[in-house]
Amino acid sequence: MKRKGILLAGGTGSRLWPITMGTSKQLLPIYDKPMVYYPLSVLMLAGIREIAIITTPEDQPQFKRLLGGGGQWGVSFTWIVQDRPEGLAQAYLLTRDFLGGAPSAMVLGDNIFFGHGLPELMARADAQESGGTVFGYHVADPERYGVAAFDPSGRVTAIVEKPKVPPSNFAITGLYFLDGRAPALAAKVKPSARGELEIVDLLEAYRAEGSLQVERMGRGFAWLDTGTPGSLLDAGNFVRTLEARQGMQVGSPDEVAFQQGWIDRAGLADRAQVFGKSSYGAQLQAMLKDAP
Ligand code: G1P
Repeated sequence: MKRKGILLAGGTGSRLWPITMGTSKQLLPIYDKPMVYYPLSVLMLAGIREIAIITTPEDQPQFKRLLGGGGQWGVSFTWIVQDRPEGLAQAYLLTRDFLGGAPSAMVLGDNIFFGHGLPELMARADAQESGGTVFGYHVADPERYGVAAFDPSGRVTAIVEKPKVPPSNFAITGLYFLDGRAPALAAKVKPSARGELEIVDLLEAYRAEGSLQVERMGRGFAWLDTGTPGSLLDAGNFVRTLEARQGMQVGSPDEVAFQQGWIDRAGLADRAQVFGKSSYGAQLQAMLKDAP
């Protein structure tokens, strides 16, 4: 079965509360485009065209206004509400019908990935039909994330959520390739002390049966955080630096849709029109001019 996508765009980003006033931070811009565009374009880079978007009930109308039906990018969206922030693993319970037994790739709406070879890395994960693949990334502050523990031979022995004493510097990023059993396995996860269905507990079910791959994303990749005012600004600066230098876009669903052949020149021209005189629109115009 073809892999389907889940974009978990909910959450209120508590540390950013003074900035968002309770609105999902995924609606904020990172430099020249909305934050949620970045993870969405990652799913599209993985070749995924059927995507469930999970939001808070309050913010669903805004996400719908921003992202539309998906047809403008040659993809389709299914809208799902998460009533309360009861954990990332709950996403698999909410998408059980949508997935209908298909394997999935879930990405968190505030995770930004950039790197040469990302499509190939994801193609390898997609090719694995049973079990799961997650991505470990070396960070300076692992205690803020799910962290992998390894034995001396490099095999993963545990994944721990926000450990006070991190067993390694490898954070588990918010991109999860799981097989069609994820909803059934998520149903067995018990709420944690903070009352959430933790993604690490779902991953533990895969790890315990020996079917979880932890692929390391090397130093050639950027996995950026948007959890604090400073990291939000850093992410924006990073994107600005790259785009200004290379004259190419980072995290643009429009560019990916065009490259994948899911929209044609006319479709891209329509999109450029939508963005008018903004720098994002200008970049789409430039892409049109360069395209064969
Ligand atoms: C969540 C996950 C954590 C993961 C992180 C990636 O944490 O629980 O395991 O490493 O996303 O962004 P949160 O950012 O919701 O605290």
